[in-house]
Amino acid sequence: MMKDTTTTLDTTWVRSQFPAFAEDVLQDQAFFENAGGSYTCAPVINRLTRYYTQRKVQPYAPYEASTLAGAEMDEARSRLAAMMGVDTDELSFGPSTTQNTYVLANAFRQHLNTGDAIIVTNQDHEANTGPWRRLAEEGIEVREWQIDPETGHLDVATLDNLLDEKVKLVCFPHCSNVVGEINDVALICAKARANGSYTCVDGVSYAPHGFVDVNALGADIYLFSAYKTYGPHQGIMIIRRGLGEALPNQGHYFNADSLYKRFTPAGPDHAQIAASAGMADYMEALSAHHGHAASGAAAARAAHSLMRDHEATLLQPLLDYASAKNSVRLLGPDQAANRAPTVALASQIPGEELAVRLASMGIMAGGGDFYAVRALAAQGVDPAHGVLRVSFTHYTTEAEVSKLIAALDQVL
Ligand SMILES: Cc1ncc(COP(=O)(O)O)c(C=O)c1O
Repeated sequence: MMKDTTTTLDTTWVRSQFPAFAEDVLQDQAFFENAGGSYTCAPVINRLTRYYTQRKVQPYAPYEASTLAGAEMDEARSRLAAMMGVDTDELSFGPSTTQNTYVLANAFRQHLNTGDAIIVTNQDHEANTGPWRRLAEEGIEVREWQIDPETGHLDVATLDNLLDEKVKLVCFPHCSNVVGEINDVALICAKARANGSYTCVDGVSYAPHGFVDVNALGADIYLFSAYKTYGPHQGIMIIRRGLGEALPNQGHYFNADSLYKRFTPAGPDHAQIAASAGMADYMEALSAHHGHAASGAAAARAAHSLMRDHEATLLQPLLDYASAKNSVRLLGPDQAANRAPTVALASQIPGEELAVRLASMGIMAGGGDFYAVRALAAQGVDPAHGVLRVSFTHYTTEAEVSKLIAALDQVL
């Protein structure tokens, strides 16, 4: 462990925590599709392996393997919840964020009354908009909070015009997976709450860049996907107690008193939930390695700052390059301070074609619509033509970003 506190990320140490970087088959491949799914950190892989080899039994029975299995699942929920400022039973796992919103929308379908209204955006990934829009079939009024077609920005003043006493729920992203701008979640949630509306925040694109304090943000629902936050393929839902108890139970009737079981009708993936404790291990080790807090919420905050500072430093040159390049249109803000390192570029060449060209140059990136069909269309980009998306995270190095810029310069 380092002796002094530092704000500079030790990327050599960081990369040593991700076995992918040591794999021969991945050498000389710069990974820029992290918004699709990130590499898995060693603590998660180790826990998953241990679970499958030593604890792969029905959890919560009195024999030792089972007790350990159940305890590890509980540990994952309690440590992640503590890091995110909520009670343990306010955090639950489901198969994916898309399935989680589907279940939540069904709960709201039963909870809302004809004539009630909800607000959705056209900035979201389809997961946090499509299921909500279907409530229109039940007589719920669906209002669309629209982005600026030039900038992709969601203006809070526009939200003000949509809020009234009929609005019971506001669904929006912490950060869009193509616009990249970080929305002012605390402000939006405060406005919704003052209006008597609940909030459902899609944190999927933001969470890889830091586990946030959901209590401080004031969201009623905060969703993210662990396979993008260095963990296994699970969706994680934080549902605050007031809302979770008000919505009708979607699980087995006899589990209704258990908040964390109310919105997970499917049987949980025991091994993956247990392995998710490895994400907490990693964030804590990251914080401690840089001389900051060794555990809990303080470690999560320190890891968040370390990651964000590093990412912003690497992101600005890429944004400067893309903004200056005449043959592409950079979607979203050109300043790193208020965006995630998820950069969508629209060009005359289809997004997937650009990704193919980059692949031959050792750049792993993706092209297409990224299920943000509405956001692309609203910005005048044909979703079928698609964008090139290059997205990175804290384990990315300056050398990789330079390699990306050089490669982009050849293909664009
Ligand atoms: C912003 C955003 N929201 C939601 C999702 C859906 O998550 P999941 O794959 O867990 O359903 C994604 C997936 O790419 C995403 O990028």
